[in-house]
Amino acid sequence: MERKRSTALVTGASRGIGREFARLLAANGHGLVLVGRDAAALDEFARQLSREYGTTIRCEAIDLSVPGAPQQLWSRLESASIEVDTLVNNAGSGLYGNVQDQDPTALERMLQLNVIALAALTRLALPGMISRRRGHILNVGSLVGYQPGGPRRTTAARHSSNRFPAVSPRSSKGVESP
Ligand SMILES: NC(=O)c1ccc[n+]([C@@H]2O[C@H](COP(=O)([O-])OP(=O)(O)OC[C@H]3O[C@@H](n4cnc5c(N)ncnc54)[C@H](OP(=O)(O)O)[C@@H]3O)[C@@H](O)[C@H]2O)c1
Repeated sequence: MERKRSTALVTGASRGIGREFARLLAANGHGLVLVGRDAAALDEFARQLSREYGTTIRCEAIDLSVPGAPQQLWSRLESASIEVDTLVNNAGSGLYGNVQDQDPTALERMLQLNVIALAALTRLALPGMISRRRGHILNVGSLVGYQPGGPRRTTAARHSSNRFPAVSPRSSKGVESP
């Protein structure tokens, strides 16, 4: 019996590090769900990856800094019967400067994206991975989280708060072939 192709969901796949994760996963034969806010950038990248690797790709344009967005994203995937075997929690942003000088709304949105969305997506992904007895979760953070202070201390607070160890029902290995 042919083994079902693995699907990887990458948040923040429209550019930067997430885009490279997506490319590596596509090159290794994974189907993809690309997540970010910029629908046009995601679509253009999906077309490129499809051409290069023949991968099945779905784009989900959504703002993960909005409360409830991870659940909304997951519902859309469930409606399309998509099972996520690899979750890359990569989307993130940082604020420059002292915490007391930050716009409270911007601070809240940063935490929503960097901490709450990461935890919510992990919570949503784990039950399926555990029942299928396969799955990987990679949480992208920063060494800045290990630094005590300095001008980027808002970012540091964020990174140290979301740097709990990567969770995986099977192993903590990152990208592997389906
Ligand atoms: N680059 C570095 O040197 C560095 C160092 C340490 C840690 N990191 C961490 O590594 C991760 C990726 O960094 P990067 O440099 O590749 O960042 P980047 O180039 O700024 O890309 C961030 C990605 O996240 C997405 N994103 C941002 N806000 C979002 C939101 N509200 N909802 C959904 N998607 C959102 C962006 O897509 P849209 O704009 O389309 O939404 C984009 O694809 C981040 O978590 C970052 O903190 C990076």
